[in-house]
Amino acid sequence: MILLTLKIVHIAAIAVWAGGLVALPALLLRNDEMSGRAAVVSLHHFSRFAHDALISPAAVLAIASGTALIFFVAADHWLFLKLVAVAGMVGVHMLIAGALDQLEESVVRLAPWNRTVLTIAASLFILAVLALVLGRPVIPTDWMPEWLLEGQDGELPLISDGSSAGSGSSGRDTPI
Ligand code: HEM
Repeated sequence: MILLTLKIVHIAAIAVWAGGLVALPALLLRNDEMSGRAAVVSLHHFSRFAHDALISPAAVLAIASGTALIFFVAADHWLFLKLVAVAGMVGVHMLIAGALDQLEESVVRLAPWNRTVLTIAASLFILAVLALVLGRPVIPTDWMPEWLLEGQDGELPLISDGSSAGSGSSGRDTPI
């Protein structure tokens, strides 16, 4: 039941976060790209509200619920690669927040190609995360340095299934 609730929260939060990361760059218009003062004010208010009240809290919820899920599933190496791609999403999120701040300053240096780059980067990181979590690929360990594999068979505190580390399982054999 807890697992199901966490997954529902995780996926709902991701839908808002990922959707926001793809949609927000298109709203980053400079004042001189809009028709009048009213349009500028309402667009900036809307994008600021979407970022501060919806997309950022959804990001926090997605990361918090994902972190909680780690304690319930037998995760494998794909999860660690997924976290690298999630870090990419966080990076894009921060760049969007920086661009929003910049649009509220008097001198704006935001080029239109920035929006395209941010949209492409967000889409690529989201697709990478989804490919890893839904495909659960087996990641070969032979290219990893020895030091990275040390302690693989040790028990971890609070993690219920010690056999998951380095086992090559799909992560589906989840204790509910
Ligand atoms: C720090 C961030 C995150 C952590 C720690 C995390 C961790 C997890 C874990 C442990 C699971 C359960 C896997 C299983 O059932 O075997 C999961 C499920 C899932 N995660 Fe994340 N996640 C994070 C962020 C994300 C993001 C950003 C996305 C999408 C862009 C995402 C997409 C999914 C999906 C779709 C599932 C359900 C997979 C399924 O049940 O088949 N996660 N996550």
